Amino acid sequence: MVVWSPFRFNSGREMANRFAIAPLTTDSSHEDGTATENELEFVRRRAASGFGATISSAAYVEQGGRSWQGIGATQDGHLSSLHRLAEAMRAAGGLAILQIYDGGRIAKPELIGEQCLRAPSAVASLRPGAKTPRAMTANEADCKLSRGCFPRSKSWFRRR
Ligand SMILES: Cc1cc2nc3c(=O)[nH]c(=O)nc-3n(C[C@H](O)[C@H](O)[C@H](O)COP(=O)(O)O)c2cc1C
Repeated sequence: MVVWSPFRFNSGREMANRFAIAPLTTDSSHEDGTATENELEFVRRRAASGFGATISSAAYVEQGGRSWQGIGATQDGHLSSLHRLAEAMRAAGGLAILQIYDGGRIAKPELIGEQCLRAPSAVASLRPGAKTPRAMTANEADCKLSRGCFPRSKSWFRRR
């Protein structure tokens, strides 16, 4: 059956089979965005079942876009946590895929500070009680993925 056969990405990386673990945020990282021991153990145990790849819970790439207390990929202090996460995901030989996100207008005010709410447009979410975000500049949006530690964190996920 094709689901048991390998799959090769354009990058050359290969999954041993077509099964991947879906991203699952547990909202249980440390306040500073590093992974807890429990989180790493949870990931390790799920990955141990022989999946072709594991996709991480979504990692915020800028403090102002943080929507829950999950992992971060914004600063040097996150690098060793991301390294350990990648190792846990690869524990049984599968690929480790880092998922990233920015919460935009639904970032959590308790985590980022209400005055820091920003999004591509100054349009409030339809969620009850949602605040209107500040509109980001084009430069801010361009910078989002090219600065901070995110470019460097990718190296942990490039290794097999
Ligand atoms: C508690 C929880 C956390 C989730 N976290 C993420 C996440 O970080 N990123 C993502 O893309 N999807 C996330 N999802 C969506 C799941 O990966 C999955 O697509 C969804 O649960 C549907 O699959 P299911 O019908 O097997 O539950 C989450 C789902 C749940 C229930």
